[in-house]
Amino acid sequence: MILREEDLVRWGTVIGRAVEPPVFIALEGELGAGKSVLARAIARGAGVEGALPSPTFNLVFRYPVRGRVEVVHMDLYRLRDPEELWELGWEDLGGKSEIILVEWPERAGGHLPEDRWSIRLSPPEPGSELRVVEVARVGNPPHLPGFPVTVESSG
Ligand SMILES: Nc1ncnc2c1ncn2[C@@H]1O[C@H](COP(=O)(O)OP(=O)(O)OP(=O)(O)O)[C@@H](O)[C@H]1O
Ligand SMILES: [Mg+2]
Repeated sequence: MILREEDLVRWGTVIGRAVEPPVFIALEGELGAGKSVLARAIARGAGVEGALPSPTFNLVFRYPVRGRVEVVHMDLYRLRDPEELWELGWEDLGGKSEIILVEWPERAGGHLPEDRWSIRLSPPEPGSELRVVEVARVGNPPHLPGFPVTVESSG
């Protein structure tokens, strides 16, 4: 499917609101593809309030949410070696209430969980305001709410 930013954000909000944790979502795509846009929308949908800083320099942000879920947003772009994952608390991820969002998951080498969603974003052409969104199920992750996204045709 191909989505405008507002549709991607709307879908992310639905995911955050309704997905049953624990869930691991790998966000793939080049620099500026929209991985953080989608991650923030999911966090908002899950009830995260306030600023949503980019994890690019910290690699991991944990957003406690009152209630049902906890959002963990990671950006592994600066990971030099998959072994550095252990310093980030990687082996403790997957707690009952966690929604785990990981940008640049390929940096984790073979250490991704068996059950996950993989969402790849890419512009159909350079500079486009649209994104081709490819969703792949790996193993047996929980239902991904709102997928496939239905976009009302407008203008
Ligand atoms: N359809 C779209 N979906 C998502 N983002 C879009 C879309 N069209 C344009 N954009 C713009 O593309 C940019 C995406 O930036 P974002 O930080 O989410 O990228 P990223 O994939 O996280 O990059 P990085 O690898 O640097 O972390 C934003 O400026 C956003 O406004
Ligand atoms: Mg990003």
